Amino acid sequence: MEQNAELPVPQGEQLLSERLDKEDKNASSFRTTEVSESVSSQEEKHEDSLVNKDEESILKGKDLYRKLCTKCHDAYSTDTTTGPGMQGILKKDLLPSSHQPATVRNILNQLNNPLDKMPSFHFLSEEEKVLLIAFLNTL
Ligand code: HEC
Repeated sequence: MEQNAELPVPQGEQLLSERLDKEDKNASSFRTTEVSESVSSQEEKHEDSLVNKDEESILKGKDLYRKLCTKCHDAYSTDTTTGPGMQGILKKDLLPSSHQPATVRNILNQLNNPLDKMPSFHFLSEEEKVLLIAFLNTL
């Protein structure tokens, strides 16, 4: 985001974008040779490695979610309160508001550069974002 250009990039942020960049490079080598369905399943596999599956991450993520997200997003339905419900958020094809593919990257995008009315969560550490994703992945 342009307006953040002068702020020091938190270490975690860098790491995460480096990991995503690496995936981009891997994914683009597939893109040249294979049809689009293979690309998206490859992309899912790459993304999958970014999602923590251990119980501790999931519980910590749930805790963060309760503090930061519940007031606007029901975790256990797709009903809109202030924002859309998060049930199945990473299992669906598309995200509910932007209609972008439901990927870790696009959820991180929403946290860092929200579409419209949602406040930005760019200030969260990489660890906190990873924990939130670990919880969202269980919904
Ligand atoms: C003050 C209310 C509010 C809070 C707090 C909030 N959101 Fe949102 N969220 C929204 C609204 C409103 C939208 C609809 C899009 C927009 O206005 O940016 C949204 C949309 C989303 C989307 C869908 C994005 C898309 O591309 O379709 C995701 C994912 C999301 N929020 C995740 C979170 C997470 C995770 C948290 C907690 C860290 C959170 N939100 C906290 C209000 C909120």
